[in-house]
Formats: sequence, C-alpha cells, structure tokens
Amino acid sequence: MQQSAYCRLNVRELTPYGEANGAQGRFFALRLERPAWTGWNPGQFLMLRPASFGLEIPWARPFGICDMTENCLTCFFQVLGRGTQRMARLKPGDEVSVWGPLGKGFALEPDTPTLLLAGGMGIVPFVGYVKNHPKPENVTVLFGHREPLNCYPADSIGERAQWESAQERAPEDRDRFLSRVRERMGECAGKNGLALACGPLPFLQTVRRFSQEIGARAQLSLENRMACGVGACLGCVAQRAGGASVCACREGPVFWADQIVV
Ligand SMILES: Cc1cc2nc3c(=O)[nH]c(=O)nc-3n(C[C@H](O)[C@H](O)[C@H](O)COP(=O)(O)OP(=O)(O)OC[C@H]3O[C@@H](n4cnc5c(N)ncnc54)[C@H](O)[C@@H]3O)c2cc1C
Ligand code: FES
Repeated sequence: MQQSAYCRLNVRELTPYGEANGAQGRFFALRLERPAWTGWNPGQFLMLRPASFGLEIPWARPFGICDMTENCLTCFFQVLGRGTQRMARLKPGDEVSVWGPLGKGFALEPDTPTLLLAGGMGIVPFVGYVKNHPKPENVTVLFGHREPLNCYPADSIGERAQWESAQERAPEDRDRFLSRVRERMGECAGKNGLALACGPLPFLQTVRRFSQEIGARAQLSLENRMACGVGACLGCVAQRAGGASVCACREGPVFWADQIVV
C-alpha cells in the first residue's frame, strides 16, 4: 500500500465549473503539480492547506482525489466556508501543502458488476474510479445532483461507463431518483454485484437502508468533519455497527455498509 506523505505543491490551474452565480456555492477543479507518490485508490483523500490560509485558518481541509495524470493531481471542490472561499482565489504558482493519499479507498473487483451511486459532490472519487477500472464495461454510474450537470466533473465518466444522471429540482425528482437507486441496487444484488456510494449523509443513510432491505453488498464513503486526517484529533469519530468507535479518516472514509452506523 502507498505510504502517505507530506509535500508542497504548486497550483497549475484553477478552473471554475458551471455558471458564475456569486462566489458562494461555486465549483472548481484544482489542478496541482503531480506529487512524488504515485499509488492511490479512488476513495482515498488528501488534507489540503494552501499557504494563503495563513494564521487565520490553522487546519487543513479534506478533499477526495478526483484524478491523477502524468503531470497533475486534480481535486474538485465546492465553495462552502472560509477555507474553500480562499481556495477559490488560488492562482497558478501558489503553494499548497498536501498530505496524502490518506485513508482507505473503495473496493475494486474487476469482474464484478459494480454500481456507483453518487449524490452531488459524491461524484468526485468516481471520476478516478471509472478511469482506473480495468473493465469499465462492468461499471454503471447513477448520479443525482441539485445543480446543473456542467457544475460537476462528470464529462469523462459517460465515455467509459454506463451512465444515468438526474437533476433534483423538486422533492418528487429526489423520490424518483431514490426509487431508481433501489431498483438498480436490487439488480446489482441479483448478480452478486457491488454498490459503492458517496454523497451527503441522508443519501448514504438511504443507500445503507436499501442495502439491508435488499441484501446488497455496499460500501459508503463518509464525509465526517476532519481536522488532522491521520487519527490524532478524534474529530471524525464514527461508530461501528458493533458499537466501537473508529476514526473515519484512518479506518475509512470508505466502510462496508453493514459495518458502520450512519
Ligand atoms: C474524506 C472527505 C472527502 C471530501 N471530499 C470533498 C471533495 O472532493 N470536494 C468537496 O468540495 N468537498 C469535499 N469534502 C468536504 C470538504 O472537506 C468541506 O466542504 C470543506 O472542508 C469545507 O471547508 P470550509 O473551510 O470551506 O468550510 P467550513 O467553514 O469549515 O464550514 C462551512 C460549512 O461547511 C460544512 N462542512 C464542513 N466540512 C464538511 C464536511 N466534511 N461534510 C459536510 N459539510 C461540511 C460546515 O458544517 C459548514 O456548514 C470532503 C470531506 C471529507 C471528510
Ligand atoms: S480527522 Fe483527526 S482523527 Fe480523524
């Protein structure tokens, strides 16, 4: 397994996605120089701390690894609070401290029918998952999102894997999408497939419930708030199904659905 490492990388490019609609809520692909480490598993993450956080923002922020090519490492983020607001002002050449790759990624079983279930920013790790899957013809992606599709880094996925997306404009859209998720999970379970989910907590809770009802093998990627990313601050504690506490950063963020409480 790849050891995680600390490094400082320069920004290559910051690319906005979707329509400019005020700074808050905007989406960006952040491309950094490629780090010295090469091995990583989709679902693993990085702790990022731009030098511009200065003294005002002491903690790094966790972001999934979206993709890595010969010369760059790509993350994708939405502006939410102080840290991501500053990240939205990064320029080529700016320095970012990077700690990674961290945690455990998603299971990869090349010959198993695999269903990727993404809600909103949960699409990020699946970009790399589909790109690096040795048999993408076995992969189906179901993507539910609130903002228009062009806000997300989804363009490369449909070229390799089977793909369905649905925009949620009203509660009925969400209900329709979740029924589709259940239906697809049922089909997947019928083939002893694997369902992998990433997205907001209510989405993960629903996927976990479906997996129990249907008897589907499923993994969930948790997005607990994280301060250190390496098991030192206990800020990200989650509960195992048996009651024990675990650090989501070190033991996860990806867990088997029947082994974790969400
Ligand atoms: C393993 C992991 C992978 C992640 N991958 C991505 C990614 O690929 N792209 C991306 O945009 N975001 C991702 N996130 C969430 C991202 O870390 C937060 O959005 C970011 O830390 C917010 O920082 P901020 O300083 O802008 O916001 P803050 O000022 O810290 O908080 C602003 C608001 O965001 C909420 N928030 C903060 N952290 C989280 C979180 N972890 N989950 C949900 N809400 C949160 C707060 O409750 C608050 O309402 C990931 C989180 C984890 C744990
Ligand atoms: S983020 Fe510090 S222990 Fe997990």
